[in-house]
Amino acid sequence: MVANPIDMTVLEKDDIQGLLLRGHGQLSSASYLLYAFTNPAKARHFLQVLVPKVTTAAEKPEDTAIQIALTYDGMAYLNLPDPVMQSFCREFKEGMTAAHRQFILGDTGENAPKNWNWGEKSPHFMLMVFGKSPEALQLALAEVNALTSSHGITALHVLPTGMLHNRKEHFGFRDDISRPVIRELLKNPENAQEETFPAGEFIMGYKNLYEEYASCPTVPAAMDKKGDLPPHPDDSNLKDLGKNGTYLVFRQMEQKVHAFWQYMKAQSKDNQSAIALASKMVGRWPDGSPLTLCPARPTPSLSEANDFGFWQDDKAGLKCPIGSHIRRTNPRDHLVTETSQKDSTEMAAKHRMIRKGRPYGPPFVPDLNPEKMITRKEDNQERGLHFICMVTDIRRQFEFVQNNWVNFHKFGGLEHDADPIIGNHYHNESRKTDEFSLPQYPVRRKLDQLPNFTLIKGGAYFFFPGIKALQYMADHD
Ligand code: HEM
Repeated sequence: MVANPIDMTVLEKDDIQGLLLRGHGQLSSASYLLYAFTNPAKARHFLQVLVPKVTTAAEKPEDTAIQIALTYDGMAYLNLPDPVMQSFCREFKEGMTAAHRQFILGDTGENAPKNWNWGEKSPHFMLMVFGKSPEALQLALAEVNALTSSHGITALHVLPTGMLHNRKEHFGFRDDISRPVIRELLKNPENAQEETFPAGEFIMGYKNLYEEYASCPTVPAAMDKKGDLPPHPDDSNLKDLGKNGTYLVFRQMEQKVHAFWQYMKAQSKDNQSAIALASKMVGRWPDGSPLTLCPARPTPSLSEANDFGFWQDDKAGLKCPIGSHIRRTNPRDHLVTETSQKDSTEMAAKHRMIRKGRPYGPPFVPDLNPEKMITRKEDNQERGLHFICMVTDIRRQFEFVQNNWVNFHKFGGLEHDADPIIGNHYHNESRKTDEFSLPQYPVRRKLDQLPNFTLIKGGAYFFFPGIKALQYMADHD
Protein backbone atom coordinates (compact mmCIF):
# COMPACT_ATOMS: atom_id res chain seq x y z
CA MET A 1 0.00 0.00 0.00
CA VAL A 2 1.36 3.41 -0.90
CA ALA A 3 1.15 5.93 1.95
CA ASN A 4 -0.56 9.21 1.20
CA PRO A 5 1.91 12.04 0.93
CA ILE A 6 1.87 14.15 4.10
CA ASP A 7 0.07 17.44 3.56
CA MET A 8 2.64 19.82 4.98
CA THR A 9 0.29 22.78 4.93
CA VAL A 10 -1.95 21.36 7.67
CA LEU A 11 -0.55 21.72 11.16
CA GLU A 12 -0.97 18.59 13.24
CA LYS A 13 -2.38 20.39 16.25
CA ASP A 14 -3.05 17.22 18.22
CA ASP A 15 0.68 16.45 18.14
CA ILE A 16 1.87 19.99 18.95
CA GLN A 17 2.13 21.11 22.59
CA GLY A 18 -0.40 23.88 23.15
CA LEU A 19 1.98 26.65 24.20
CA LEU A 20 3.61 26.69 20.79
CA LEU A 21 0.41 27.92 19.13
CA ARG A 22 -1.35 29.55 22.10
CA GLY A 23 -0.28 31.78 24.99
CA HIS A 24 -2.62 30.13 27.52
CA GLY A 25 -3.55 33.73 28.35
CA GLN A 26 -6.81 32.67 30.02
CA LEU A 27 -4.71 30.61 32.47
CA SER A 28 -3.17 33.52 34.30
CA SER A 29 -1.46 31.59 37.13
CA ALA A 30 1.54 29.48 36.23
CA SER A 31 4.66 27.86 37.57
CA TYR A 32 7.73 26.60 35.74
CA LEU A 33 9.35 23.68 37.55
CA LEU A 34 12.89 22.51 36.90
CA TYR A 35 13.80 18.91 37.65
CA ALA A 36 16.49 16.25 37.56
CA PHE A 37 15.76 12.59 36.87
CA THR A 38 17.44 10.12 39.23
CA ASN A 39 16.72 6.82 37.48
CA PRO A 40 16.38 6.26 33.70
CA ALA A 41 13.73 3.52 33.91
CA LYS A 42 11.61 5.55 36.34
CA ALA A 43 12.12 8.59 34.13
CA ARG A 44 10.70 6.75 31.12
CA HIS A 45 7.77 5.48 33.17
CA PHE A 46 7.13 9.03 34.33
CA LEU A 47 6.95 10.13 30.68
CA GLN A 48 4.52 7.27 29.91
CA VAL A 49 2.17 8.54 32.60
CA LEU A 50 2.66 12.16 31.62
CA VAL A 51 2.08 11.89 27.84
CA PRO A 52 -1.76 11.76 27.97
CA LYS A 53 -1.79 14.68 30.41
CA VAL A 54 0.19 17.05 28.17
CA THR A 55 -1.99 19.80 26.68
CA THR A 56 -2.02 19.88 22.90
CA ALA A 57 -2.75 22.74 20.54
CA ALA A 58 -5.95 20.96 19.44
CA GLU A 59 -7.64 21.95 22.71
CA LYS A 60 -8.25 25.31 24.37
CA PRO A 61 -7.76 24.48 28.04
CA GLU A 62 -10.30 26.14 30.34
CA ASP A 63 -8.89 25.12 33.69
CA THR A 64 -5.29 23.93 33.63
CA ALA A 65 -2.57 23.06 31.17
CA ILE A 66 0.72 21.21 31.38
CA GLN A 67 3.68 21.34 29.01
CA ILE A 68 7.08 19.66 29.10
CA ALA A 69 10.47 20.65 27.73
CA LEU A 70 13.72 18.66 28.04
CA THR A 71 17.37 19.67 27.91
CA TYR A 72 20.11 17.76 26.11
CA ASP A 73 21.36 16.45 29.47
CA GLY A 74 17.84 15.30 30.29
CA MET A 75 17.50 13.34 27.07
CA ALA A 76 21.00 11.90 27.45
CA TYR A 77 19.90 10.68 30.89
CA LEU A 78 17.08 8.74 29.21
CA ASN A 79 19.82 6.82 27.35
CA LEU A 80 18.55 7.77 23.91
CA PRO A 81 20.83 6.14 21.29
CA ASP A 82 23.93 8.05 20.26
CA PRO A 83 22.80 8.75 16.65
CA VAL A 84 19.66 10.37 18.11
CA MET A 85 21.60 12.56 20.53
CA GLN A 86 24.04 13.54 17.79
CA SER A 87 21.21 14.66 15.51
CA PHE A 88 20.31 17.66 17.67
CA CYS A 89 21.76 21.02 16.66
CA ARG A 90 25.13 22.07 18.01
CA GLU A 91 23.81 24.94 20.14
CA PHE A 92 21.39 22.64 21.93
CA LYS A 93 24.00 19.94 22.46
CA GLU A 94 26.50 22.38 23.93
CA GLY A 95 23.92 24.20 26.02
CA MET A 96 23.41 27.86 26.90
CA THR A 97 26.32 28.03 29.33
CA ALA A 98 29.13 26.58 27.14
CA ALA A 99 32.22 28.77 27.57
CA HIS A 100 32.25 30.29 24.06
CA ARG A 101 28.47 30.71 24.09
CA GLN A 102 28.77 33.07 27.06
CA PHE A 103 30.52 35.47 24.66
CA ILE A 104 27.96 34.94 21.90
CA LEU A 105 25.10 35.73 24.26
CA GLY A 106 26.86 38.43 26.29
CA ASP A 107 26.61 36.32 29.45
CA THR A 108 29.81 37.72 30.89
CA GLY A 109 30.75 39.85 33.91
CA GLU A 110 27.84 40.07 36.33
CA ASN A 111 25.70 38.09 33.86
CA ALA A 112 28.08 35.10 33.81
CA PRO A 113 26.43 31.71 34.51
CA LYS A 114 28.52 31.32 37.67
CA ASN A 115 26.35 34.09 39.15
CA TRP A 116 23.02 32.56 38.08
CA ASN A 117 20.49 31.00 40.45
CA TRP A 118 20.08 28.03 38.14
CA GLY A 119 21.25 26.74 34.79
CA GLU A 120 25.04 26.67 35.23
CA LYS A 121 24.45 22.98 35.74
CA SER A 122 21.69 22.07 33.34
CA PRO A 123 18.37 20.77 34.71
CA HIS A 124 17.02 17.66 32.96
CA PHE A 125 13.57 18.94 32.17
CA MET A 126 10.98 21.59 32.88
CA LEU A 127 7.27 21.25 33.49
CA MET A 128 5.19 24.35 32.75
CA VAL A 129 1.96 24.20 34.70
CA PHE A 130 -0.85 26.72 34.10
CA GLY A 131 -4.11 27.33 35.99
CA LYS A 132 -7.06 29.63 35.49
CA SER A 133 -6.73 30.73 39.15
CA PRO A 134 -4.17 30.27 41.96
CA GLU A 135 -6.42 27.51 43.35
CA ALA A 136 -6.60 25.66 40.03
CA LEU A 137 -2.83 25.95 39.74
CA GLN A 138 -2.32 24.56 43.25
CA LEU A 139 -4.45 21.53 42.43
CA ALA A 140 -2.52 20.88 39.24
CA LEU A 141 0.79 21.31 41.08
CA ALA A 142 -0.26 18.84 43.76
CA GLU A 143 -0.90 16.25 41.03
CA VAL A 144 2.45 17.02 39.41
CA ASN A 145 4.27 16.75 42.76
CA ALA A 146 2.71 13.37 43.46
CA LEU A 147 3.76 12.15 40.02
CA THR A 148 7.32 13.41 40.16
CA SER A 149 8.01 12.23 43.70
CA SER A 150 6.64 8.76 43.00
CA HIS A 151 9.19 8.54 40.15
CA GLY A 152 12.15 9.62 42.27
CA ILE A 153 12.44 12.91 40.41
CA THR A 154 14.24 15.74 42.22
CA ALA A 155 12.68 19.21 42.11
CA LEU A 156 15.53 21.71 41.57
CA HIS A 157 13.75 25.05 41.25
CA VAL A 158 10.20 26.34 41.26
CA LEU A 159 9.68 29.49 39.22
CA PRO A 160 6.24 30.99 39.87
CA THR A 161 5.19 33.28 37.08
CA GLY A 162 2.17 35.43 36.45
CA MET A 163 0.63 38.13 34.36
CA LEU A 164 0.67 41.83 35.19
CA HIS A 165 -1.91 44.58 34.76
CA ASN A 166 -2.86 45.17 31.10
CA ARG A 167 -0.31 42.63 29.79
CA LYS A 168 2.56 44.89 30.80
CA GLU A 169 6.10 43.94 31.73
CA HIS A 170 7.69 45.26 34.95
CA PHE A 171 9.14 48.50 33.54
CA GLY A 172 5.53 49.43 32.79
CA PHE A 173 5.33 48.83 29.01
CA ARG A 174 2.75 46.80 27.11
CA ASP A 175 4.39 43.59 25.94
CA ASP A 176 3.47 40.82 23.55
CA ILE A 177 2.23 43.05 20.74
CA SER A 178 4.49 42.09 17.85
CA ARG A 179 4.05 38.40 17.09
CA PRO A 180 4.96 36.57 13.88
CA VAL A 181 1.83 35.16 12.25
CA ILE A 182 2.12 31.52 11.11
CA ARG A 183 0.78 31.27 7.55
CA GLU A 184 -0.60 27.74 7.92
CA LEU A 185 -2.90 28.91 10.72
CA LEU A 186 -4.72 31.38 8.49
CA LYS A 187 -7.81 30.50 6.51
CA ASN A 188 -6.83 32.85 3.69
CA PRO A 189 -3.11 33.57 4.00
CA GLU A 190 -3.10 35.42 0.69
CA ASN A 191 -5.44 38.06 2.21
CA ALA A 192 -3.37 38.51 5.38
CA GLN A 193 -2.85 42.12 6.45
CA GLU A 194 0.36 41.31 8.29
CA GLU A 195 3.61 39.70 7.28
CA THR A 196 3.19 35.93 7.57
CA PHE A 197 5.75 33.19 8.18
CA PRO A 198 5.90 29.54 7.12
CA ALA A 199 5.40 27.21 10.08
CA GLY A 200 8.89 25.74 9.66
CA GLU A 201 10.40 28.89 11.16
CA PHE A 202 8.87 27.91 14.49
CA ILE A 203 7.71 24.29 14.26
CA MET A 204 9.86 21.39 13.08
CA GLY A 205 8.57 19.13 10.31
CA TYR A 206 7.29 21.97 8.12
CA LYS A 207 8.96 24.12 5.47
CA ASN A 208 10.76 27.27 6.55
CA LEU A 209 11.59 30.55 4.79
CA TYR A 210 14.24 28.76 2.73
CA GLU A 211 11.53 26.36 1.52
CA GLU A 212 13.37 23.56 3.31
CA TYR A 213 12.33 21.40 6.22
CA ALA A 214 13.76 22.93 9.35
CA SER A 215 16.73 20.89 10.55
CA CYS A 216 15.50 18.53 13.25
CA PRO A 217 16.56 15.63 15.46
CA THR A 218 16.07 12.20 13.93
CA VAL A 219 15.98 8.51 14.85
CA PRO A 220 17.38 5.73 12.61
CA ALA A 221 14.18 4.02 11.35
CA ALA A 222 15.19 0.63 12.82
CA MET A 223 15.47 2.17 16.28
CA ASP A 224 11.86 3.32 16.39
CA LYS A 225 10.78 -0.14 17.51
CA LYS A 226 7.20 0.72 18.39
CA GLY A 227 6.68 2.87 15.30
CA ASP A 228 5.91 5.98 17.34
CA LEU A 229 7.42 8.49 14.94
CA PRO A 230 6.50 9.79 11.48
CA PRO A 231 8.96 9.25 8.60
CA HIS A 232 11.55 11.92 7.93
CA PRO A 233 10.40 13.90 4.88
CA ASP A 234 13.82 13.84 3.17
CA ASP A 235 15.30 10.48 4.20
CA SER A 236 13.44 7.17 4.34
CA ASN A 237 16.12 5.67 6.61
CA LEU A 238 15.19 8.10 9.35
CA LYS A 239 12.22 8.87 11.56
CA ASP A 240 11.39 12.45 12.45
CA LEU A 241 11.86 13.09 16.17
CA GLY A 242 11.49 16.83 15.67
CA LYS A 243 8.11 16.82 13.92
CA ASN A 244 5.69 19.17 15.67
CA GLY A 245 8.32 20.17 18.21
CA THR A 246 10.70 23.09 18.48
CA TYR A 247 13.52 24.52 20.57
CA LEU A 248 12.57 26.58 23.59
CA VAL A 249 15.00 29.24 24.82
CA PHE A 250 14.50 30.21 28.47
CA ARG A 251 16.21 33.16 30.14
CA GLN A 252 15.27 34.29 33.62
CA MET A 253 15.91 38.05 33.51
CA GLU A 254 15.71 40.12 36.66
CA GLN A 255 14.51 43.69 36.01
CA LYS A 256 15.93 46.55 38.08
CA VAL A 257 12.79 48.66 37.95
CA HIS A 258 13.76 51.24 40.56
CA ALA A 259 17.18 51.80 38.94
CA PHE A 260 15.51 52.02 35.51
CA TRP A 261 13.17 54.84 36.44
CA GLN A 262 15.77 56.64 38.58
CA TYR A 263 18.11 56.70 35.59
CA MET A 264 15.35 58.17 33.39
CA LYS A 265 14.53 60.75 36.06
CA ALA A 266 18.17 61.80 36.48
CA GLN A 267 18.43 62.50 32.73
CA SER A 268 15.16 64.42 32.44
CA LYS A 269 13.67 67.74 33.47
CA ASP A 270 10.34 66.28 34.58
CA ASN A 271 8.36 63.04 34.80
CA GLN A 272 6.91 63.37 31.32
CA SER A 273 10.38 63.70 29.76
CA ALA A 274 11.54 60.71 31.84
CA ILE A 275 8.68 58.61 30.42
CA ALA A 276 9.43 59.87 26.90
CA LEU A 277 13.10 58.88 27.33
CA ALA A 278 12.23 55.37 28.55
CA SER A 279 9.86 55.06 25.58
CA LYS A 280 12.70 56.03 23.23
CA MET A 281 14.69 53.14 24.72
CA VAL A 282 11.86 50.67 24.19
CA GLY A 283 10.58 52.08 20.87
CA ARG A 284 6.98 52.12 22.07
CA TRP A 285 5.12 54.23 24.64
CA PRO A 286 4.05 52.47 27.87
CA ASP A 287 0.59 51.89 26.35
CA GLY A 288 2.24 50.10 23.42
CA SER A 289 1.78 52.73 20.73
CA PRO A 290 4.88 52.79 18.47
CA LEU A 291 7.05 55.91 18.41
CA THR A 292 7.41 55.62 14.66
CA LEU A 293 3.68 56.24 14.22
CA CYS A 294 3.18 58.69 17.12
CA PRO A 295 6.51 60.22 18.14
CA ALA A 296 5.10 63.14 20.16
CA ARG A 297 2.73 61.39 22.54
CA PRO A 298 1.10 58.01 23.21
CA THR A 299 -1.96 57.32 21.09
CA PRO A 300 -4.27 54.72 22.66
CA SER A 301 -5.87 53.79 19.33
CA LEU A 302 -2.40 52.65 18.17
CA SER A 303 -1.56 50.64 21.28
CA GLU A 304 -1.60 47.35 19.36
CA ALA A 305 -0.29 48.79 16.09
CA ASN A 306 2.28 46.63 14.43
CA ASP A 307 2.02 47.56 10.78
CA PHE A 308 4.89 50.00 10.45
CA GLY A 309 8.43 50.24 9.17
CA PHE A 310 11.36 52.59 9.58
CA TRP A 311 12.67 52.98 6.01
CA GLN A 312 10.28 55.58 4.61
CA ASP A 313 9.70 57.94 7.51
CA ASP A 314 12.35 57.32 10.12
CA LYS A 315 15.64 56.34 8.50
CA ALA A 316 17.71 58.43 10.89
CA GLY A 317 15.81 57.25 13.97
CA LEU A 318 14.53 60.71 14.87
CA LYS A 319 11.24 59.16 15.97
CA CYS A 320 12.31 55.69 17.11
CA PRO A 321 16.05 55.57 17.88
CA ILE A 322 18.04 53.06 15.84
CA GLY A 323 19.36 51.47 19.04
CA SER A 324 15.96 51.11 20.74
CA HIS A 325 14.87 47.65 21.93
CA ILE A 326 12.23 47.00 19.29
CA ARG A 327 14.36 48.36 16.46
CA ARG A 328 17.31 46.17 17.41
CA THR A 329 15.29 43.02 17.95
CA ASN A 330 13.30 43.49 14.73
CA PRO A 331 14.76 46.13 12.39
CA ARG A 332 11.91 45.42 9.97
CA ASP A 333 12.50 47.26 6.67
CA HIS A 334 15.48 49.29 7.84
CA LEU A 335 18.55 47.22 8.43
CA VAL A 336 21.24 49.78 7.79
CA THR A 337 23.46 47.14 6.16
CA GLU A 338 20.86 46.29 3.51
CA THR A 339 20.50 48.22 0.29
CA SER A 340 16.75 48.18 -0.14
CA GLN A 341 13.63 48.12 1.96
CA LYS A 342 12.73 44.72 0.47
CA ASP A 343 16.16 43.22 1.20
CA SER A 344 15.95 44.39 4.76
CA THR A 345 12.44 43.02 5.29
CA GLU A 346 13.53 39.64 3.90
CA MET A 347 16.68 39.61 6.01
CA ALA A 348 14.93 40.63 9.25
CA ALA A 349 12.24 37.98 8.67
CA LYS A 350 14.88 35.26 8.99
CA HIS A 351 15.53 36.23 12.60
CA ARG A 352 12.08 36.22 14.14
CA MET A 353 10.98 34.26 17.20
CA ILE A 354 7.74 33.37 18.90
CA ARG A 355 7.92 34.96 22.36
CA LYS A 356 6.05 33.39 25.26
CA GLY A 357 7.59 35.19 28.24
CA ARG A 358 5.71 35.89 31.45
CA PRO A 359 6.71 38.21 34.28
CA TYR A 360 7.60 37.03 37.77
CA GLY A 361 7.70 38.80 41.12
CA PRO A 362 5.41 41.54 42.48
CA PRO A 363 4.86 44.70 40.44
CA PHE A 364 6.77 47.75 41.71
CA VAL A 365 3.43 49.59 41.82
CA PRO A 366 0.18 47.66 41.28
CA ASP A 367 -0.98 49.45 38.12
CA LEU A 368 2.57 49.83 36.72
CA ASN A 369 1.99 53.53 36.18
CA PRO A 370 5.43 55.02 35.30
CA GLU A 371 4.71 58.30 37.14
CA LYS A 372 4.21 56.36 40.36
CA MET A 373 7.27 54.20 39.68
CA ILE A 374 9.44 57.29 39.26
CA THR A 375 8.57 58.51 42.77
CA ARG A 376 8.49 55.17 44.58
CA LYS A 377 11.40 54.14 46.85
CA GLU A 378 13.40 50.95 46.20
CA ASP A 379 11.65 47.95 47.78
CA ASN A 380 14.49 45.43 47.19
CA GLN A 381 12.10 42.79 45.87
CA GLU A 382 13.18 40.61 42.98
CA ARG A 383 11.05 40.85 39.84
CA GLY A 384 11.62 40.24 36.18
CA LEU A 385 10.72 38.36 33.05
CA HIS A 386 10.84 34.67 32.37
CA PHE A 387 11.81 35.27 28.76
CA ILE A 388 10.85 32.37 26.55
CA CYS A 389 11.12 32.13 22.81
CA MET A 390 10.47 29.29 20.44
CA VAL A 391 12.50 28.79 17.28
CA THR A 392 13.50 25.92 15.02
CA ASP A 393 17.00 27.35 14.54
CA ILE A 394 18.56 28.57 17.79
CA ARG A 395 21.59 30.03 16.05
CA ARG A 396 19.88 31.83 13.16
CA GLN A 397 17.00 33.14 15.22
CA PHE A 398 17.64 33.67 18.95
CA GLU A 399 21.46 33.75 19.05
CA PHE A 400 21.75 35.94 15.97
CA VAL A 401 19.44 38.57 17.47
CA GLN A 402 21.14 38.44 20.86
CA ASN A 403 24.66 38.59 19.42
CA ASN A 404 24.42 40.70 16.26
CA TRP A 405 21.68 43.08 17.20
CA VAL A 406 21.07 43.26 21.00
CA ASN A 407 24.66 43.33 22.20
CA PHE A 408 26.50 44.59 19.10
CA HIS A 409 27.99 47.96 20.02
CA LYS A 410 28.20 49.11 16.39
CA PHE A 411 24.66 48.09 15.46
CA GLY A 412 23.23 50.40 12.79
CA GLY A 413 26.31 52.65 12.74
CA LEU A 414 26.33 53.27 16.49
CA GLU A 415 29.61 53.15 18.39
CA HIS A 416 29.37 52.25 22.06
CA ASP A 417 25.73 51.26 22.48
CA ALA A 418 24.05 47.98 23.38
CA ASP A 419 20.31 47.40 23.69
CA PRO A 420 19.42 50.00 26.36
CA ILE A 421 16.87 47.73 28.07
CA ILE A 422 18.46 44.27 27.94
CA GLY A 423 22.04 44.83 26.79
CA ASN A 424 25.04 43.95 28.94
CA HIS A 425 26.65 47.37 29.46
CA TYR A 426 30.42 47.67 29.89
CA HIS A 427 31.95 50.89 31.15
CA ASN A 428 35.68 50.41 30.33
CA GLU A 429 37.29 52.52 27.63
CA SER A 430 38.65 49.30 26.09
CA ARG A 431 35.16 47.81 26.01
CA LYS A 432 32.45 50.42 26.23
CA THR A 433 28.81 49.57 25.56
CA ASP A 434 27.01 51.84 28.00
CA GLU A 435 25.86 54.68 25.74
CA PHE A 436 22.46 55.36 24.26
CA SER A 437 22.30 57.59 21.19
CA LEU A 438 19.20 59.65 20.59
CA PRO A 439 19.17 61.00 17.06
CA GLN A 440 17.95 64.62 17.22
CA TYR A 441 18.03 67.57 14.90
CA PRO A 442 20.46 69.36 14.53
CA VAL A 443 22.71 67.51 17.03
CA ARG A 444 22.14 64.04 18.47
CA ARG A 445 21.95 63.51 22.22
CA LYS A 446 24.13 60.85 23.79
CA LEU A 447 23.49 59.31 27.20
CA ASP A 448 26.31 57.62 29.05
CA GLN A 449 26.90 55.28 31.98
CA LEU A 450 23.80 53.15 31.45
CA PRO A 451 23.74 50.50 34.18
CA ASN A 452 22.41 47.03 33.44
CA PHE A 453 18.65 47.32 33.84
CA THR A 454 18.29 43.55 33.48
CA LEU A 455 20.37 40.72 34.93
CA ILE A 456 20.40 37.10 33.82
CA LYS A 457 19.52 34.81 36.74
CA GLY A 458 19.20 31.50 34.96
CA GLY A 459 18.60 29.87 31.63
CA ALA A 460 18.77 26.83 29.40
CA TYR A 461 18.04 25.58 25.90
CA PHE A 462 15.20 23.06 25.85
CA PHE A 463 13.64 20.77 23.27
CA PHE A 464 9.86 21.20 23.26
CA PRO A 465 8.81 17.91 21.67
CA GLY A 466 5.67 16.91 19.84
CA ILE A 467 3.49 14.31 21.57
CA LYS A 468 4.69 11.41 19.39
CA ALA A 469 8.30 12.34 20.08
CA LEU A 470 7.53 12.31 23.78
CA GLN A 471 5.94 8.89 23.39
CA TYR A 472 9.08 7.65 21.63
CA MET A 473 11.22 8.84 24.54
CA ALA A 474 8.90 7.08 26.98
CA ASP A 475 8.88 3.82 24.94
CA HIS A 476 12.59 3.67 24.25
CA ASP A 477 14.68 1.36 26.43
C1 HEM B 1 13.42 41.77 30.76
C2 HEM B 1 13.66 41.62 29.47
C3 HEM B 1 12.81 42.21 28.38
C4 HEM B 1 11.88 43.21 28.44
C5 HEM B 1 11.45 44.03 29.63
C6 HEM B 1 11.35 43.35 27.09
C7 HEM B 1 10.37 44.26 26.74
C8 HEM B 1 9.81 44.38 25.49
C9 HEM B 1 8.75 45.27 25.13
C10 HEM B 1 8.06 46.25 26.08
C11 HEM B 1 8.48 45.10 23.81
C12 HEM B 1 7.43 45.82 22.98
C13 HEM B 1 6.16 45.03 22.84
C14 HEM B 1 6.05 44.21 21.58
O1 HEM B 1 6.48 44.66 20.52
O2 HEM B 1 5.57 43.07 21.65
C15 HEM B 1 9.39 44.08 23.33
C16 HEM B 1 9.44 43.59 22.04
C17 HEM B 1 10.32 42.65 21.60
N1 HEM B 1 11.32 42.03 22.32
FE1 HEM B 1 11.70 42.31 24.27
N2 HEM B 1 11.99 42.46 26.27
C18 HEM B 1 12.88 41.75 27.02
C19 HEM B 1 13.74 40.75 26.58
C20 HEM B 1 13.88 40.39 25.26
C21 HEM B 1 14.86 39.44 24.76
C22 HEM B 1 15.89 38.68 25.60
C23 HEM B 1 14.68 39.36 23.42
C24 HEM B 1 15.43 38.52 22.42
C25 HEM B 1 16.74 38.46 22.37
C26 HEM B 1 13.57 40.22 23.08
C27 HEM B 1 13.04 40.35 21.82
C28 HEM B 1 11.97 41.15 21.50
C29 HEM B 1 11.35 41.17 20.19
C30 HEM B 1 11.74 40.31 18.99
C31 HEM B 1 10.33 42.12 20.25
C32 HEM B 1 9.38 42.50 19.12
C33 HEM B 1 10.01 43.61 18.28
C34 HEM B 1 9.11 43.95 17.10
O3 HEM B 1 8.77 43.03 16.37
O4 HEM B 1 8.80 45.11 16.92
N3 HEM B 1 13.13 40.84 24.21
N4 HEM B 1 10.19 43.66 24.36
